[in-house]
Amino acid sequence: MINTISDIKKKLDVHKVRNDFPILSRSINGKPLVYLDNAATTQKPQTVIDSLNHYYTFDNANIHRGLYFLSELATDQYENARLKVKEFINAISASEIIFVRGATEAINLVASSFCRAKIFCNGDEVIITHMEHHANIVPWQLMGDRKQINLKVIPINDSGEIDLNNFANAITEKTKLVSVVHISNTLGTINPVKKIIEIAHSKNVPVLIDGAQAIPHMKVDVQELNADFYVFSGHKVFGPTGIGVLYGKAEYLEMMPPYQGGGSMIRTVDFEKTTYDDIPGKFEAGTPNIAGGIGLGAAIDYINQFDRLELSLYEEELLKYATNELQKIDGLKIIGTAKEKASVISFVIDGIHPYDIGTIIDTDGIAIRTGHHCTQPIMKRYNVLATARASFSFYNTKDEIDKLIHGLLKVKKMFS
Ligand code: ALA
Repeated sequence: MINTISDIKKKLDVHKVRNDFPILSRSINGKPLVYLDNAATTQKPQTVIDSLNHYYTFDNANIHRGLYFLSELATDQYENARLKVKEFINAISASEIIFVRGATEAINLVASSFCRAKIFCNGDEVIITHMEHHANIVPWQLMGDRKQINLKVIPINDSGEIDLNNFANAITEKTKLVSVVHISNTLGTINPVKKIIEIAHSKNVPVLIDGAQAIPHMKVDVQELNADFYVFSGHKVFGPTGIGVLYGKAEYLEMMPPYQGGGSMIRTVDFEKTTYDDIPGKFEAGTPNIAGGIGLGAAIDYINQFDRLELSLYEEELLKYATNELQKIDGLKIIGTAKEKASVISFVIDGIHPYDIGTIIDTDGIAIRTGHHCTQPIMKRYNVLATARASFSFYNTKDEIDKLIHGLLKVKKMFS
């Protein structure tokens, strides 16, 4: 993923970075918090927390509705956040940025709207992969109940990778959309989404990318990828919960009917007929998560002060170190060993349930996720009920990985 180390101008000062995140200096059970569940949600820098506090303390008013000072101020801040997102992912226009609750709502929006636009007819196909999060499976099934969409699933190999030939061969004249995850939240696999998009486009099929896990780990450029839709959640990229983004090419968003109806998304309403606002307003019914949007803007400002390559390189170093140390533990098996991988490691230990692992190391202040990670088909594929998962961000350290390893050895000892 990273080509050359000489591209990196300066080494990340992780201890300085950690000071930006107040929660990282708290204790759990009398031990310093070791937060290794970044794939579930990331921690928030003080600047993001301050932006929320400032908004509610000084600037709170509803947006797009008032001609008074505070309403205009809040509107400006919310729309400025949209501009920041546009720049962050290099969309052509801010009108292509729809604020939603998160990646899940974004996918539901596209599924519902495509159905209502009658883009899907009986027997049409949506192609996904075996490594999708439930959020990129269930919305299509819900629409399938109504419209009989067939989900076609691209298999993964034992390392957790898809075969591009399989993918290309799966596309037929019935394929109306490809919807794939950029980085798997369970396996850490980085999918070759640019190639996937090229192949799908060569057969005139649009592509939605679930970028929930990619956005915190890499620079995403929707124009360079040529993605038709790209979705992500604010809370996984150091912003607040309850805010996320649906990026869509204007040509699609303009022809798609609204997802929800209500205030704000209309131009005129009569009992006989309603006309809708232009994009993005058409998709943002009701009072939105104003503070969340502003907080996401603050998170983007925070990330923008770093060289993304530098952050990726540092996380890659953590991934290599952790993989190496975990593999030294007798009976531990890593699930997901793709060549292109982000700093997410799922693992199982012979004879010990992942819930026991998570609960025991929690007593030492170490937070990892245990369970199926909203990817039950992956569990079935690897014949496990659950895994333990450690996921790293650029504020984690090798010292924290050592604590994880120490904790796991303790668990093993308890079960021996
Ligand atoms: N999708 C999130 C995770 O992987 C919640 O933990």
